[in-house]
Amino acid sequence: MGGCPFSSRRGFLGAAGSVLAASAFAERAVADGAGTAAPSAGNSAPRTVGGTSGNGAPIPFHGRHQAGIDTPQQTHVLFASFDLVAKRAEDVVRVLRDWTLAARRLAAGGALGNAGGDPTVPPPDSGDALGLGPRRLTLTFGFGPGLFEKDGKDRYGLKAKRPAALVDLPRFNGDQLDPAHTGGDLCIQACADDGAVAFHAIRELARMAAPNDAANGYGGKQAGVAAPYDAHQGAAVLRWIQAGFLPGGPSGETPRNLLGFKDGTENPGRPHPAARAGGKLAGNGTFEDVVWVGEEGPEWMQGGSYLVVRRIRIALQHWDNVALDFQEQVIGRRKLGGGPLTGGGEFAPLDLDATDKDGNLVIGDNAHVRLGAASSNGGARILRRSYSYNDGLAMIAERWPPWRQGLEYEAGLLFIAFQRDPRTGFIRIFENMAKLDLLNQFTTHVGSGIFACPRGIAKGEFVGKELFAA
Ligand code: HEM
Repeated sequence: MGGCPFSSRRGFLGAAGSVLAASAFAERAVADGAGTAAPSAGNSAPRTVGGTSGNGAPIPFHGRHQAGIDTPQQTHVLFASFDLVAKRAEDVVRVLRDWTLAARRLAAGGALGNAGGDPTVPPPDSGDALGLGPRRLTLTFGFGPGLFEKDGKDRYGLKAKRPAALVDLPRFNGDQLDPAHTGGDLCIQACADDGAVAFHAIRELARMAAPNDAANGYGGKQAGVAAPYDAHQGAAVLRWIQAGFLPGGPSGETPRNLLGFKDGTENPGRPHPAARAGGKLAGNGTFEDVVWVGEEGPEWMQGGSYLVVRRIRIALQHWDNVALDFQEQVIGRRKLGGGPLTGGGEFAPLDLDATDKDGNLVIGDNAHVRLGAASSNGGARILRRSYSYNDGLAMIAERWPPWRQGLEYEAGLLFIAFQRDPRTGFIRIFENMAKLDLLNQFTTHVGSGIFACPRGIAKGEFVGKELFAA
């Protein structure tokens, strides 16, 4: 078996035992009410996104909404997408229960067991985040279309319960989607102020769901390992993951993306200038209006949100050779201060009608912010909660002049948007943008996914509980 990690007895025992450890953890956690993060009345207060340095206190796990949506952005994300391999709905429920219990403990800064205890079993926690504390870890769970129906099959009897808003994303102009970064039946967005904490969380949750190695033919039944875990087929396997980061600037400031521009200025929850001046307008929308599903959705989604993720590669070498003036025209904002080209500070409203002395629009027809603005899209708004990513170098052929080819940065934006309904949110906005945006000369969408993130989880519940009720 060559370099197979399970070729030794020790390796085999290690792998087989980890499943036992995971289930034992779940049982213990149920018994002792593990993960005692303070229950919250909900984390629904609209918050601005940005301000990436936290005080490290745990983010409450329970509440009306899942954490990691209106939570001020942490500095790191590990986004994980899973394929379901479970044969029965009960097995999906089992993994969601285990994940919920484990996530509660992890968000409180706990480990999933003693990483240095019994020498005869694999440590129930990998130990790589020991002592780091919660670092504002949030774990946001989402259900992809494949939970409801895959390849025409109603695998778990949930087809009829697929929410109308959980559409398959259309193919957009310029899409070059790579299956290795696209789709998924379940997702977990792990955000924390330390990349090691986010990685540890996904690693632990993924191993809880994965088939154990007895089931993979690496050994027979293990003495002392109770059914059904002796040949556990698993419920879900990793499909793709993507790490991302933000600069850890002072709290409350909008972080910059790899273009060097502030990203997240015009987001719901920001006090609109008119509101600050005494008016009542919330020009960029409230979380209730834009983000949280209301009574129009099924019960398990009320207070939840739809997540659209896009892995967008940016031609950084091309961008870096473009004059500052043109960079600002592409976005429609000033690079340093972040204010609109039509004047004022970062939060000044865009004046989309303003013209220069020659009668040309100051914020051009194809400027990114014009195409993204609610007023250009019949009022459509989304919450953007994106991260930069950097995966080294790759051989890339750019699709715009000067058609660079060669080793380029495999880097860009892990665009993550939350909304009440993707049909009137991301899809409505991006359809035009994909065709007309000046920014498209520098960007290529290479990964994609859509997920329904259920409402927040109450104590004693598991994520998406009502969806599985008969
Ligand atoms: C690599 C890709 C992208 C980059 C670098 C980028 C960058 C930016 C920047 C710098 C701003 C201005 C500051 C702000 O309001 O946050 C902005 C605004 C915005 N972007 Fe993007 N963006 C990207 C992709 C997208 C995509 C795919 C969408 C799809 C819906 C989108 C939607 C928006 C919206 C709605 C706004 C606010 C417009 C407004 O109302 O002023 N962006 N983006």
